[in-house]
Amino acid sequence: MSTYRLDRSFEWNVRNGPAYDGTFPEVPETPLKDYFGIPAQSRIGVAASVLVNRRWTETYAQLGFDLLTYKTVRMRRRRCHNFPNWTFVHEGPNLLEETDTALVRPARRIGNPLDLTGAGSFGMPSRLPEFWQEDICKTRASLPANKVLIVSIVATPLPGMTADEMASEFGELAGMVSAAGAQVIEANLSCPNVRAGEGELYQDTQMVGRVAKAVRTGAGNKPVTLKLGHILKNEDLSAVLQAAEGLADGVVMINGVNRTVVNHDGSATFGPGRETCGIIGQGLRPVAIDAVDRAVRIVQRDGLSLKIIGTGGFAKPADAAAFFDAGAYAVFSASGAIFDPHLAIRVKQEHPEW
Ligand SMILES: Cc1cc2nc3c(=O)[nH]c(=O)nc-3n(C[C@H](O)[C@H](O)[C@H](O)COP(=O)(O)O)c2cc1C
Repeated sequence: MSTYRLDRSFEWNVRNGPAYDGTFPEVPETPLKDYFGIPAQSRIGVAASVLVNRRWTETYAQLGFDLLTYKTVRMRRRRCHNFPNWTFVHEGPNLLEETDTALVRPARRIGNPLDLTGAGSFGMPSRLPEFWQEDICKTRASLPANKVLIVSIVATPLPGMTADEMASEFGELAGMVSAAGAQVIEANLSCPNVRAGEGELYQDTQMVGRVAKAVRTGAGNKPVTLKLGHILKNEDLSAVLQAAEGLADGVVMINGVNRTVVNHDGSATFGPGRETCGIIGQGLRPVAIDAVDRAVRIVQRDGLSLKIIGTGGFAKPADAAAFFDAGAYAVFSASGAIFDPHLAIRVKQEHPEW
């Protein structure tokens, strides 16, 4: 089962999804926890991905996910990259290392999507604020108790935009989503398939601090998290965490890693100009767990107050265990929640304590 139709465009999925047959199994009872002080039935969530509107968000809430990240919104309308946007790749070179080696899309589908490494090229599409402000408001009003609505935001760079203008757009967006009903504001500092600017902010320590400050101001007293990409060196990761400390409450690690993906004949899978894309799913998991593990150690070593939220390749209860063992505060799934919408139910059956 997949709630997102890979054979259809992103817009089709927004309009018609989720592809879910409508029977909702009973969600196991779990003791109450909190997410940054907000009551939550678990620390299991959906990462910014398919919760594109109220319908998608309500479905996942009903399926037992408690931390619901509304897909990244922008100040301006942005179309999704052309179809196709999502495929699978052969297990390639070790993603933990920087490499120029391309990953290869097999000629034919290679098995259960839950066991596969994915490649996504969406480009962080967004509708206009007029739509999402009202939709976030209605979504929040419709959610039952002990669910947390997180809204992901990103600034859109324009030619000539200064770093301060970019940071202040993040701040303005934080204020807007907060007013609309977001309980937690997640600033996306990483997107592996946008061409410039907003995709690489997490690599610029100064910008991390500036954006965190602006979002902190815009969010008022609501919790703030920053979504990061893969940072290879501990000293760089440490600098980013130091820059976020005292401004953000947590960091979400990690977004898909950026790699070239080609067809078996060597042509670009997503077409010219979109040679690189985000590697997600199974192959990302060891990279994400390693990132969480290193970040947790830095937080402990340096006495920081940031919480580390894990995401990447969480598709089975045992995957969540690996993140929690590494010290994650919460765990989010995108691909896993899409290909197994009963993932949160399975997790709660085995681990009500999460
Ligand atoms: C359909 C789709 C859309 C996504 N859109 C966003 C987005 O708007 N913002 C964001 O921060 N991450 C986005 N992501 C990345 C996910 O949040 C997540 O970091 C990534 O997919 C790795 O997790 P996974 O292995 O569980 O899929 C998207 C992923 C998918 C599959």
